[in-house]
Amino acid sequence: MYIFKTAKDLNRHLQIYRDKKRPVGFVPTMGALHQGHLSLVKRSLADNPCTVCSIFVNPTQFNESSDLAKYPRSPERDLELLHNVGCDVVFMPAVAEVYPKGLQFEDTAQLDFGSLAKVMEGAHRPGHFDGVAQVVKRLIDIVQPDRMYMGQKDYQQLLIVRSMVQQLALPVEVVACPIVREADGLAMSSRNQRLTAEQRQQAAAISDVLRQAAQWAAVHTPEEVAQKALRALEEAGLEPEYFTLADPVDLSPVHRFSEEEEAVMAFVAARAGEIRLIDNGLVKKG
Ligand code: PAJ
Repeated sequence: MYIFKTAKDLNRHLQIYRDKKRPVGFVPTMGALHQGHLSLVKRSLADNPCTVCSIFVNPTQFNESSDLAKYPRSPERDLELLHNVGCDVVFMPAVAEVYPKGLQFEDTAQLDFGSLAKVMEGAHRPGHFDGVAQVVKRLIDIVQPDRMYMGQKDYQQLLIVRSMVQQLALPVEVVACPIVREADGLAMSSRNQRLTAEQRQQAAAISDVLRQAAQWAAVHTPEEVAQKALRALEEAGLEPEYFTLADPVDLSPVHRFSEEEEAVMAFVAARAGEIRLIDNGLVKKG
């Protein structure tokens, strides 16, 4: 497994694949890797002769400085996990390598995500998606991958990145991968490590509620489903931020379940203590 810290060294290596027109798969991460991340790497390994995984804790997407300071970092373990799954290349740049001209948003400032960026995470984490779009654009410019693998755990992020790729006509295919969960249903997340034993138990309510929401949706209105879900999260000891039923394509809110075959997804953000967790799931099939 090759490990590169500079764009120059990475590119010297990747040029061999580009010259031979062999596709390069890319998995951007912020490290503290778990099986969710590794599922993306494995998918890329199956699809491409070369897979690059980046580990970069992007300072511009953290709207709370304490979240950035406390973001878990375990580079040695990450490298071991990546080595064990057979990842080809790891890119671990310093901040100045990704942002040589500083942290300004010049490349992506003109992008317009419309309502996609105004709801849910966009509404609760001001500036977050600007930072995500900025760093993913920079990383795509550096790695120049043919395919990029992203998890549906961060569904709204996936749609934002797809929109950016489309608006800037970047020559990369964005591949969506399913959510990997713990045995009790909790969506894997680097932030789960920071939960106390009690919070870890409470956190299981998030995926339980998403599963129940699919049943409630058969007999209740979206408004009622959301209210029941928020109540269940509170009863479990969590502090819900939102529970939203929305269209999976444009994230517009769903106010009534139609008879037609239109899919509806539920999106949830809740805090266990100071740890903020998100998850989502289908509540009505299309
Ligand atoms: P990070 O939270 O490290 O996640 C990296 C990728 O792993 C994302 O595409 C995310 O959706 C995916 N992922 C995380 N948990 C998952 C799970 N349980 N199942 C499936 N996929 C999962 O998301 C980011 O980093 C950053 O915003 C990034 C895109 C790297 C930009 O900085």
